[in-house]
Amino acid sequence: MTARMPEPGPTRPRPGAVPPALAVAGAGVLACALLVVAGRIGVVDGAAVTLALLAAGLLIGRLAAPGAEPAAVVGDRGVDREVARFADGLTEPFLILNERSVLVYCNPSARLQFPRLREGDPLAFTLRDPDLVEAIDAARTAREARAVEVHLSVPNEVWLRASVAPYEPDPESGRLLLIITLHDFTEQRRTDRMRSDFIANASHELRTPLTSLMGFIETLQGPAATDAGARDRFLSIMRTQAGRMSALIDDLLSLSRIELRQHVKPTAEVRLQSVVREVSASLEARLAEAGVTLELDLPEESAAVTGDAQELYEVVENLVDNAIKYGGSGGRVSVAVARGANRAGTYHAITVTDYGPGIAQEHVPRLTERFYRVESEGSRKAKGTGLGLAIVKHIVHRHHGEMAIRSTLGEGTRVEVLLPRRS
Ligand SMILES: Nc1ncnc2c1ncn2[C@@H]1O[C@H](COP(=O)(O)OP(=O)(O)OP(=O)(O)O)[C@@H](O)[C@H]1O
Ligand SMILES: [Mg+2]
Repeated sequence: MTARMPEPGPTRPRPGAVPPALAVAGAGVLACALLVVAGRIGVVDGAAVTLALLAAGLLIGRLAAPGAEPAAVVGDRGVDREVARFADGLTEPFLILNERSVLVYCNPSARLQFPRLREGDPLAFTLRDPDLVEAIDAARTAREARAVEVHLSVPNEVWLRASVAPYEPDPESGRLLLIITLHDFTEQRRTDRMRSDFIANASHELRTPLTSLMGFIETLQGPAATDAGARDRFLSIMRTQAGRMSALIDDLLSLSRIELRQHVKPTAEVRLQSVVREVSASLEARLAEAGVTLELDLPEESAAVTGDAQELYEVVENLVDNAIKYGGSGGRVSVAVARGANRAGTYHAITVTDYGPGIAQEHVPRLTERFYRVESEGSRKAKGTGLGLAIVKHIVHRHHGEMAIRSTLGEGTRVEVLLPRRS
C-alpha cells in the first residue's frame, strides 16, 4: 500500500446527519441504477460501478465515524487501510485516479492484469486506450458514470468493459476522484467470435450445394426439360449434392451432441477389437469400390477401455474414411490396436495408416480445426466437410485420450489415438 500524506483533518458531521460523501455515494448508486434501467449502461457495468461506489462510501463512512482514523483518502496518493483491504479483495481490477488522471490506488487484481501500473503515475502510462481516456474525461466533466469497452492488443489481446465513476469524497472541497472498475470479457468475446465463425462456415458449406441444386432444378424445368440424357446426368449430380448436405448436417448434429456431453464421463466397457471389426464390416462396399484393402492387426487379448461405443465407432470410422478418401491411392489401409504406456499411464492405441499422397507439414497442426481442409486435388474431389477430425478430437478428449497425426508427403498418413486402459 502507498504512503499516506497528511491533509487537513476531515470535518466531522453532526450526530445523526448523513455524512455528505456517503450521501454522494448513495446518490451515485441511485444514478447508476437509473442508468441501468434506462439502458444507458449494462447490468454488469452497473453492478461494477455500484460496488466501486460502495467501496468509496465505506471509505467516507470511516471518515464520518466518531473516533475515525484520519483521512480515508489522503492527499494525492494513498487510501485508508480498511478501504484498501476491501478493494484488495475484489476479484475485478479496481483503480482510483485523482483529478489529473494520476493513479492513486490499484488493487492486486489490477496489478496482476497490468503489471506496469504504478501508483503516482498518470494512468495513460499504462492504459492508453483513447476510448477509456475519453470516458474518463467525460465522467470528470459531466460528473456522471460512464461505461466503455476497451480493446487492448499489446502485450495480449484483451477486451475489457470499463466503468468510470466520478466520486467526491468531500463535496465542500470540490475535490474529485475517478473510480474505475474493469471487467475482462475476452473469453466471452472469443467464444462469440468462434460461434459466429462457425455459423458463417456452416451456412457457407450448406449454401454451396444448395445453390448448385437450385441451378440444376431451373435447368431441368427450362432448357433441359425434354432432354432425357441431360436429366439423368443432372439428377445424379443433384443426388451427390443432396448427399453432401445431408452428411454436413449429420456432422453438425454429431458435433453438437458430443459437445453437450463433453463433461459427462463415459462409463461403459468397450472392446476396441469389436469396434474396429464393426467399422470394417460397414465399410466393405466402399473399400471394394475404391479398390482398397483393409488390413487389421488386432491383439488376441481383450483391448478394453472405458468409453462410449457409438462415439469410439465414429472415431475409427472417420479415420478409416479419411484413409480411403485421401490415401486410397496407396491401395491399402491398415488399422492396428496395441497396448502401450507413457507418462500419463497405460493405454490402448488405435493406429490407422494409409499409403497415399500424405499431407504437407504446415497443414498437419490445423487438421482438427472445424471446416479445415487441405486444398489439394484429392480433397476437392472427395468433397469432405472438414468436420471429421474435429469430431474425432472432441471424442478423444471426452475419453481422456490423446491423438497424434503424422504424415510424410509421398508416403502416407498415420493417425494414432491413445485411450486409457480400463483397469
Ligand atoms: N489420411 C489423409 N490423407 C491426406 N489428407 C487427409 C487425410 N485425412 C485428412 N486429410 C485432410 O484433412 C482434411 C480434414 O479432414 P476431416 O476428416 O476433418 O474432414 P473431411 O474428411 O474433409 O470431412 P468429413 O470428415 O467431415 O467428411 C481433409 O479435408 C483432407 O484434406
Ligand atoms: Mg473426414
